[in-house]
Amino acid sequence: MSLKILSVVGARPNFMKIAAICDAIKEFNRLSTGANIQHILVHTGQHYDANMSDSFFNDLELPKPDISLGVGSGSHSVQTAKIMERFESVVVNECPHLVMVLGDVNSTVACALVTTKTLCAGNAGGRDFIPKLAHVEAGLRSFDRAMPEEINRIVTDSISDYLFTTEASANENLLREGVPTEKIFFVGNVMIDTLLRHRKKAAESTILQDLQLAEPQGTKPYAILTLHRPTNVDDERVFSRMLKAFLDISKHMPVVFPAHPRTLKRIQEADLGDCFVDHFIQGPEPWDSRVRIRLIPPLGYLDFLHLMSNAKVVLTDSGGIQEETTILGVPCITLRENTERPVTVAQGSNVVVGSNPEKIVKEFNRVNSGGHGVHRSPRYWDGHAAGRIIKVLVNRFLPDRAISIPAYEAKAEELRQN
Ligand code: UD1
Repeated sequence: MSLKILSVVGARPNFMKIAAICDAIKEFNRLSTGANIQHILVHTGQHYDANMSDSFFNDLELPKPDISLGVGSGSHSVQTAKIMERFESVVVNECPHLVMVLGDVNSTVACALVTTKTLCAGNAGGRDFIPKLAHVEAGLRSFDRAMPEEINRIVTDSISDYLFTTEASANENLLREGVPTEKIFFVGNVMIDTLLRHRKKAAESTILQDLQLAEPQGTKPYAILTLHRPTNVDDERVFSRMLKAFLDISKHMPVVFPAHPRTLKRIQEADLGDCFVDHFIQGPEPWDSRVRIRLIPPLGYLDFLHLMSNAKVVLTDSGGIQEETTILGVPCITLRENTERPVTVAQGSNVVVGSNPEKIVKEFNRVNSGGHGVHRSPRYWDGHAAGRIIKVLVNRFLPDRAISIPAYEAKAEELRQN
C-alpha cells in the first residue's frame, strides 16, 4: 500500500519548506510497516545559480531532485508557461495521487494549474483520475494585487484540495473567500520546522569570522539587509532613496547585504556601485569611514541563519525572513507597504515601514536604542508542522495507517472548536 506524492520546488524559499516535508515523509516511512509514501521531487529550475539552489540542497541535505525541468529565468508569462508545458508530461508519466506545491512563487502556480487540468491513467483497470492538489502555506494575503506573488497565492488556493495554513489570518482569508472548512488545515509553519532543526548546526558556521564581525569580546553589532522585490529595486528612484537610509544606518553599524542576482543587476544598471563595498574583494573598511553597505553574494541556508540569529536588526522585503526573525526574536524592519504575514507583527518582532527613508531610519533608531518589544512564537510554529501535514494526508489516503503526532493530537480538538 503506497501513497505517491509528487512535490514541486523551484525558487529559493521553496527549499527550506520542502526540507521539512522530506524529513516528515522519511519519518513516516521509518515508522510505518506495510505502507509507505513514495516521494517524487521535481525542481523546475526557476532558480538555478549554485548559491540560489545547490547550496540549499547541500546545507539542508535534500535529496537530489528526481526530475529537473531546467526552465531558468524569463518574464512571468514565459517562465510560467515553460514550467506548465514541461510539468504536464511529468504528471502524465508519474500519475501521483497528490501534487504538493509550496509558497507563492511562479513554480507554485504553474504546477498547481497543470495538476488540476491533467488526467492520469488509473492503474490495473482503475478509473482515470486528476491528482489531488495540496498547497503548503495557503491563505496568506497582502491584499496587494500588484504583487505577482499575491496572484499566485489566490489562484493556487482557489484550485487546491488541501490548504495547509501557517497562521490564523490565513484561515480567515480562505473562509472569507468561500473555501470550505474541510479543505483548510491549520498546521503551522514548515519553514520554522527547518529553522528549529538546523539552528544548532548553523551555529558552527564561520560566517561571523569571515565577515570580521566576531571579536574577542563578542560579536560586533551589525544589521542585515536583503532586498529583491521589483517594487523596491526595479525603480531606480525608489531604490536610490532607500539606499540613502541604509547608508545612514551604516554610520551606526556595519550593514551586511547579501544581494539577490536581480538586485545586483539593478545596482550595475543604475550605476549605484559607490554606495557599496564588496566585502570579499575589497575587505571591510576601517570603522570611521564605514559609510558604505557591505555587499556579499547570496548566502547558503546555514550561514544566513547564523548571521540572522546574531544580528542587531534585519531590514528586508522578504516574506520568509519576517517569519524567521519572529522565531529568533531579532527585530525585523520590513521594507514593504504591507505584509501577508500579519502574525509576525502582532506577535513577532516585525514592523512594516515601507520604502520611505525617514521611516526606515526612524525605526532603526528606535531598535538601536533598545526600543524593541517582547515577542511570542505564533501558534503551531513548534517544529511539527510537516508532521501534521503528513498525518492529514496519510489519514486521508491511507486511512488504516493513521498516525499520531502528540503535539497535533493535543491541539486538534481545540482547533476544531475555533
Ligand atoms: C522569486 C519569487 C519571489 C521570491 C524570490 C526569492 C516569483 C514571482 N517570485 O523572485 O516571490 O521571494 O524568488 O528569491 O516567483 N536570477 C539569477 N539566478 C537565479 C535566479 C534568478 O540570476 O538562480 C536572476 C534572473 O535575472 C532573473 C531574476 O533573477 O530574471 C529574477 O528571478 P525570478 O525567479 O524571476 O524572480 P525572483 O526575483 O528571484
